[in-house]
Amino acid sequence: MNLRIFDSVDDLLHAAARTLQQRVEGGARTIAISGGSTPKPLYEQLGRSDAMRAMPITWVVVDERYVPIDDPQSNAGMIQATLFAGGIPAGQRFLRFQTELGDPARTAAEFEREWKAAGIAGLDVVLLGMGDDGHTASLFPGTDALAVEDRIATAVHVARLDSWRVTLTRPVLRAAGLRMVLAAGEKKGPVLEQVRAGADLPIAAVTRGVETWWFVDRAAASNAA
Ligand code: 6PG
Repeated sequence: MNLRIFDSVDDLLHAAARTLQQRVEGGARTIAISGGSTPKPLYEQLGRSDAMRAMPITWVVVDERYVPIDDPQSNAGMIQATLFAGGIPAGQRFLRFQTELGDPARTAAEFEREWKAAGIAGLDVVLLGMGDDGHTASLFPGTDALAVEDRIATAVHVARLDSWRVTLTRPVLRAAGLRMVLAAGEKKGPVLEQVRAGADLPIAAVTRGVETWWFVDRAAASNAA
């Protein structure tokens, strides 16, 4: 496991920003980014970077909660308010899940259509989070979405949350050039330890055996059960 442990969340986010910038300088052009709370300041920082704004990047949302884009729960809404606070730069594209279609399966199919129409061959980098239950993207333990192999994106009903999500699928996330997992806070400790011990969790199904850099703060690393 390629684990980098940082003293603070701030240090972790700065390191993640540096890695992303280096990858872009090295030619990465298609980058998938997650929602959740951890990466928000990172997106704010990237959104203020003239160097990043000048690059011809296609940004892709990793997964989405099935809510309107102006709902505080919306991942695309959060990304628009942070990474694209200054608007989407002229040379960049933003591929998101259109929850306004009102039908999760249609939204996933439309996302896949747009992905193909944009000529996306695969992801260069994908930024992932990890839930306390071991989910990543919207691939939750025990859901059918984990077994989807023949699509770019899928809808998934998450019983635990009693809600629909849409998400990139496991093979797409595994095929990316690099996975960066950001995990901060003591609540992530036990699940991080389980992953390190070989537990069969969604985050492991997406990262095991493929190049993955873990960006973890001391709180998550030292409170492992
Ligand atoms: C989402 C996600 C999800 C997230 C993790 C970690 O929409 O919720 O994309 O997979 O990355 O739940 O979230 P935190 O950063 O809030 O801990």
